[in-house]
Amino acid sequence: MRADDAPVIEQGAARSLRLFFALWPPAAVAAHLERAAMAVQRSCGGRRPRRENLHLTLAFLGEVAPSRLDVLLQLGDELRGQPQTLWVDQLGYWKHNRILYAGCGVVPGELAEFAERLSASLAAAGYRVERRPFAAHLTLLRDVRPTQALPQLAPVEWRIDRFSLVASTLHAGGPRYKSLRVWMW
Ligand code: 2AM
Repeated sequence: MRADDAPVIEQGAARSLRLFFALWPPAAVAAHLERAAMAVQRSCGGRRPRRENLHLTLAFLGEVAPSRLDVLLQLGDELRGQPQTLWVDQLGYWKHNRILYAGCGVVPGELAEFAERLSASLAAAGYRVERRPFAAHLTLLRDVRPTQALPQLAPVEWRIDRFSLVASTLHAGGPRYKSLRVWMW
């Protein structure tokens, strides 16, 4: 086992799972966004997630008891979304957490509505969910301090047709994500 492979937090059967619902981009979209992240990183530094880890979070749950997993899987089974097109077409920077992200000039109403329905289902199932409005984004760099205007992002089309429940484990080399279930819309 490489040092990077050793989980920072051991997660045995009885331990909690760190979970979130997310959209995972197809390989071509992830590659496009990774190239954009590399270009900014060259001049501004920051830590870049692995390409296969790029994602758009729909709802972050945090630590969940394994006994609650069935409830979440059923909740996902009951949600229906509509396939739609998302244009990821801008870079943005959040100063408060020093994150560079890729976002959308226009978030399709169906996507925002799906995220709201997911939050409402989670709240009904007893989860505390974010009160902040849904901000569709994919984190591209962490701990970054841009010193110049951000470059334009060449728009990339993402056909959204599925969502996932994902478990995250924290490792010295960065988080590892494991998809527990994928639902097609
Ligand atoms: P981020 O990309 O903006 O960091 C898994 O950790 C995912 O859940 C990340 O995409 C992260 O968003 C998101 N997330 C939302 N709230 C979080 C929180 N309180 N702690 C960690 N991750 C959170």
